Amino acid sequence: MSDNNGENVTENTNENPSSSIDTVMQETRLFPPTDSFLEGCEIGSLDAYEALYDRAKADPVAFWEDLARNELHWFEDFHTTLNWNVPNAEWFVGGKTNVSYNCLDRNLENNADKTAIIWEGEPGDVRTFTYRELHSEVSRLANAFKKAGVEQGDVVSIYMPMVPELAFAMLACARIGAVHSVIFAGFSAESIADRNNDASAKVQLTADGAYRRGKVLELKKIVDEALEKSPTVETCIVLARTDTAVEMREGRDLWWHDLLEQVDDDCPATPLDSEAPLFILYTSGSTGKPKGIKHTTAGYNLYAKKSFEWVFDIRDDDIFWCTADCGWITGHTYVAYGPLCAGATIVMFEGAPNYPAEDRFWELIEKHKITILYTAPTAIRAFIKWGDHHVDKHDLSSLRLLGTVGEGINPEAWMWYHHKIGGARCPIVDTWWQTETGGIMMSPLPGAIATKPGSCTKPLPGILPAILDDSGAPVRENQGGKLVLTHPWPGMLRGIWGDDERFQEAYWDMFPGLYLAGDNARCDEDGYYWIMGRIDDVINVSGHRLSTIEIESALVSHEKVAEAAAVGRKDDLKGQAIAVFVTLIDSEPSDELKQELRMHVRKEIGALAQPDDIRFTNALPKTRSGKIMRRLLKDIAEGNENLGDTTTLEDYTVLTQLRADDES
Ligand code: PRX
Repeated sequence: MSDNNGENVTENTNENPSSSIDTVMQETRLFPPTDSFLEGCEIGSLDAYEALYDRAKADPVAFWEDLARNELHWFEDFHTTLNWNVPNAEWFVGGKTNVSYNCLDRNLENNADKTAIIWEGEPGDVRTFTYRELHSEVSRLANAFKKAGVEQGDVVSIYMPMVPELAFAMLACARIGAVHSVIFAGFSAESIADRNNDASAKVQLTADGAYRRGKVLELKKIVDEALEKSPTVETCIVLARTDTAVEMREGRDLWWHDLLEQVDDDCPATPLDSEAPLFILYTSGSTGKPKGIKHTTAGYNLYAKKSFEWVFDIRDDDIFWCTADCGWITGHTYVAYGPLCAGATIVMFEGAPNYPAEDRFWELIEKHKITILYTAPTAIRAFIKWGDHHVDKHDLSSLRLLGTVGEGINPEAWMWYHHKIGGARCPIVDTWWQTETGGIMMSPLPGAIATKPGSCTKPLPGILPAILDDSGAPVRENQGGKLVLTHPWPGMLRGIWGDDERFQEAYWDMFPGLYLAGDNARCDEDGYYWIMGRIDDVINVSGHRLSTIEIESALVSHEKVAEAAAVGRKDDLKGQAIAVFVTLIDSEPSDELKQELRMHVRKEIGALAQPDDIRFTNALPKTRSGKIMRRLLKDIAEGNENLGDTTTLEDYTVLTQLRADDES
């Protein structure tokens, strides 16, 4: 091990044995944890990780059975650890537990006066809650929900800013067996209505408004529009956050604070079946409408807790900040359930990284003495662009561990994060996982696995990945192929809400019995995994999945559009940007129409789906079987065809002939 600028950097001298064309990345730097990080590490060596991994691999079911008994509270013990009838898994069958009990009541034993949540609002207001206070807040809210008619099994749709009440609401649903469906508060009224209808949501939670970079986004107004088209929603509970005037509809709308006044905080957690649904979270798939990914109680709870403890090497005095919004899976598992179940102290932040200035994150870290920062590569790229002087203003010495999630991190950004934010002393955990997996699947365990910039390194204990070619045969070392998981795990999705067929088709048809993740990957000579991007038509914008089909459908719903194709093109900041190709019914192309289409997609789906580039074309290039030639469009969008971004109509079909062989 050599010492280089105070870091333990070793040069990995293994030659890459494969000349596979898939391997364009030759990253040989290796970063073992520093001695100071290793002090007090739970899993502090490669041997310790391998021993745990091998034990789990030898008998995954027994491994999870032991953990479930030790880590969760059971009102009734389970009798069967796993029922596995592809593609349906049932874990800890016969048992009764409650996620809210595991997060709250259990922490009353040893952590009652420990801070559970440090919350900072966009305007700088701070509220903190101990575990005892959190238990009380959640119990009272659960009683309020009951008062408003919420019953076990009902779906509660949540469209709220990142305020503590959002976390309370999730936990209160879990407490009484209601199923939450959190919808990120950047989605449009249309998107809320689609999700409400798909899930048959009975109750809607929202706030009067949300702070967005100093302005107020009128959430209740958006919800009012959504509820016009959500016939199953009977009640809407409104939190006062911004004191914005709202219209309250008689017989449907209730104020959050009024309801709380009518109840007390005595609400014992309902014992729930291990497989009782906990939440639905909508994510994009390659075809059709968003998929309602279903997660259930015990398995998800166990996986959230253990993956959190393993990956973040959590210690009693850690202050953990996951910057994700609760509207995404990262916010579910690593803002709320994982850390709280582990009795950790979390930071929750309502605002944006660049408001009021570009140093807001660094200010928060200094102010709250945050020890672990878990954020997204897209944010890191933005920080680099905004400049080091914002970082230099602040003391970041409280940090001991860094993490990333949502997309691959390019080695340059990784090195900046390592040096500039981590002071070359904090390991970086690059965590690969998905809405569907419930928790982190591959990541360094920071005390055990030396990191390589750009690699998510190795699978967690109990997780058994493989990389296959299209025939189902394992690929060679360093060769790219389709990433699958060969054994069920407790945190796995339990289906797509109301659509068993799509569940089977999307994840289980290609390789029977194996979970198809939808990502390409390779595994190197040291057993390190490298994610190589999606295999389906999903665009990853700023770490969030958007399906090309959804964007295309939104465009085609505009009266002037005949046909549309959306592709992702490389973007330095967002990872991928959205480029769309549009054929018009009989209108003339113009910059005004481009703007109109942008706003139309924004209205239909939300701001994050707004196209970056719009090109008008006479016809879309298609294969003989009628499939849009996306690879060709991607090349054009990335400028490889040298056609530039013009308002005028182009006819890309002429290029079809040149590429037809490639695509078919
Ligand atoms: O393509 C992978 C990418 O994000 C997808 C999952 O997206 P979503 O369900 O929205 O969940 C994001 C947060 C867990 C994956 O299929 N992805 C996620 N993490 C990584 C990643 N790609 C590369 N490296 C990662 N660490």
